[in-house]
Amino acid sequence: MKRELKLIVNGDTHVVYIDPWKTLTDVLRDDLQLTGTKLGCNSGECGACTVLINGKAVKSCLVLALQAQGKEIITIEGLEGEQGKLHPLQQAFIDHFAVQCGFCTPGMILSAKAFLDKNPNPTEEEVRVALSGNLCRCTGYVKIIEAVLAANEGKGASQ
Ligand code: FES
Ligand code: FES
Repeated sequence: MKRELKLIVNGDTHVVYIDPWKTLTDVLRDDLQLTGTKLGCNSGECGACTVLINGKAVKSCLVLALQAQGKEIITIEGLEGEQGKLHPLQQAFIDHFAVQCGFCTPGMILSAKAFLDKNPNPTEEEVRVALSGNLCRCTGYVKIIEAVLAANEGKGASQ
């Protein structure tokens, strides 16, 4: 039997009727068409499905959508910088060539955001550890780490 679910995503409230076993990833992608949240392994291994729930980076394939009821969810579509510009992390990923196929990028950026929000002056090693749950098959991680550190130093925007 379908259940009513009220989700707050990127500041908007959505009411959907879903099967209770649906994951948050599936509801975001299939019911709300927020396909920036990627579905990779569907088993908590790759981090492609990472979103923010109440400010914390969470692998949404491991969360039943009903568990997210009433919580503040941010997906990559909801991230933005000042005055409608790209968020500094998004800009830094572009500037530092940290995106190749882009499949890992939304999850990587949201994990980085949650981390930087709590750790304003991280070392490179701390960034590496923080992003270790997000896998990238393309970049070798060097550019991603550079981008996160640069965004944190306010160097995300093109010079
Ligand atoms: S799709 Fe969720 S961790 Fe891989
Ligand atoms: S850019 Fe392709 S998986 Fe990371």
